[in-house]
Amino acid sequence: MTTDQLGLRSVVLGVGAYLPQKTLTNDELAKLVDTSDEWIVQRTGIKERHIAAEGETTSMLGEKAARAALANAGIAPQDIDLIIVATSTPDWTFPSTATQIQAALGMTQGAAFDLQAVCSGFVFAVATADKFLRSGSHKRALVIGAETFSRIIDWTDRTTCVLFGDGAGAMVLEARPSRGALDERGVLTTHLRSDGRHCNKLHVDGGPSATQTVGHLRMEGKEVFRFAVGQVTDVVKDAFAATGLTAEDLDWFVPHQANRRIIDMSAQKLGIAPEKVVATVHLHGNTSAASVPLALATAVADGRIKPGDLVMLEAVGGGFTWGSALIRW
Ligand code: ACO
Repeated sequence: MTTDQLGLRSVVLGVGAYLPQKTLTNDELAKLVDTSDEWIVQRTGIKERHIAAEGETTSMLGEKAARAALANAGIAPQDIDLIIVATSTPDWTFPSTATQIQAALGMTQGAAFDLQAVCSGFVFAVATADKFLRSGSHKRALVIGAETFSRIIDWTDRTTCVLFGDGAGAMVLEARPSRGALDERGVLTTHLRSDGRHCNKLHVDGGPSATQTVGHLRMEGKEVFRFAVGQVTDVVKDAFAATGLTAEDLDWFVPHQANRRIIDMSAQKLGIAPEKVVATVHLHGNTSAASVPLALATAVADGRIKPGDLVMLEAVGGGFTWGSALIRW
């Protein structure tokens, strides 16, 4: 059964992305910590990451990605009535980054809120927007993943600082009448999971209530790697089971861009051909909630993803959280 029993489906109108101007290459990082381009490329596939300028906040990156997605969709901010921002690096503890972006876009209509599922945030936000749109309560959603992880990285810790970067990506979704067929455009099915027992394996050691500080990212890399490859495939299989579609039916697999080895091993485990995998992690490192829409925007802009294609989004992140969204583009 697909997700459109109410006769509505959430159709993708456009995507967009933004990366800060400043890049930080592996060779430049090797001057800060004891690492090398060879080690980073071999273990992660990452070549460089982008770093937000001083004073450039998550909402500023998110606004630029949102404007790019709106332009790609051919609609104005005034046509949007829902903004969901997935981020773990908000401008402020409150108000939400979503309301900052809403104001920056000159919008006073609609509802705007943040959602926190770390690296899975964009997939969680797409699933949430899809449920709002299919309920009939909202018509057009702007879903944004935006992060400035450079602000929560311990730049003396070589085991984490080489992995992350800043960036933002966005998607515009519109509720449209649907017959419920699998070849009709829109979000076909979404599947979300979480397991809070793993919270210490990937976390930030600060927060308003616990420490009254922002804190730094801490990670048990091997454990995260094992979980990411071992567990994430179940939500993709759930999407196939819900629709009767298979890995062979997919045109594109757009996973969370954390590590090239995790991406390749997940695709292999799922029986997805390497040429169907969209990987942009070499260009921007792990940008957490921004990584899936950054990869999507790249593959749409270069002509790989076309209307009618079957696209599987997948992500895993701190919590742990993990999820999938199967979309007929
Ligand atoms: N440069 C050079 N050497 C390093 C670096 C570095 N940047 N970091 C660690 N090392 C060293 C270690 O100290 C260790 O040295 P030792 O053998 O003398 O003790 C050696 O390299 C091997 O370290 P491991 O941790 O065993 O390396 P591993 O092969 O597991 O790779 C990595 C580490 C890349 C972090 C890997 O575990 C990984 O990708 N994990 C997943 C992390 C991830 O993607 N997190 C993103 C957030 S979660 C998410 O988005 C899903």
